[in-house]
Amino acid sequence: MSVSKKIILGVTGSIAAHKAADLASLLTKARCDVRVVMTADAQRFITPLPFKTLTRNPVVTDLYDEDEGWKPMHIELADAADLLLLAPATANLIAKLAHGLADDALSCMALALNPQAKILIAPAMNGKMWQHAATQANVKLLKNRGAEFIGPDEGMLSCGYEGVGRLWPVDQISKRALQLLR
Ligand SMILES: Cc1cc2nc3c(=O)[nH]c(=O)nc-3n(C[C@H](O)[C@H](O)[C@H](O)COP(=O)(O)O)c2cc1C
Repeated sequence: MSVSKKIILGVTGSIAAHKAADLASLLTKARCDVRVVMTADAQRFITPLPFKTLTRNPVVTDLYDEDEGWKPMHIELADAADLLLLAPATANLIAKLAHGLADDALSCMALALNPQAKILIAPAMNGKMWQHAATQANVKLLKNRGAEFIGPDEGMLSCGYEGVGRLWPVDQISKRALQLLR
């Protein structure tokens, strides 16, 4: 890819959050400009440090941690993004996006995203959360608005159950993200 594509990588409070570090690394190696945005709950699972180091960019951890510029950071990133990639995406974030909630940096960016940007969502959650009618209705709403979902995968879940809910393999998420940016 000749021109560096801008990706917002939203990381949420899932046990799979650590896998997003590998994803950030793969996309950075593919010459994308990756800006990681972590929810407060994501920071219970992994610190911003690996993302900062792997992407060579500051990590957004709070709606109010603005730096020097006059434009709010969440608007600046949302204006410039080519892709909003949410991986792992919790049931909570999917619900917030479906209903237009904007109570943290990531959900604000999703609402303020420029219309040219693509949206790729990689869910990870307990199988019952994924199959719940509320989650499925939220997924349908987002798909109807043009968001693409990748996964979830089937297998042994960290909650101890077997079923659908695992984060899709990160190399395949990275591959699809790069295809969408072409
Ligand atoms: C150990 C643990 C693992 C969790 N894993 C998930 C998960 O994989 N997917 C999910 O949707 N929620 C999971 N949750 C619940 C979310 O962390 C919770 O809904 C939180 O509010 C999500 O916030 P966020 O969407 O702002 O990141 C987990 C909670 C705990 C304590």
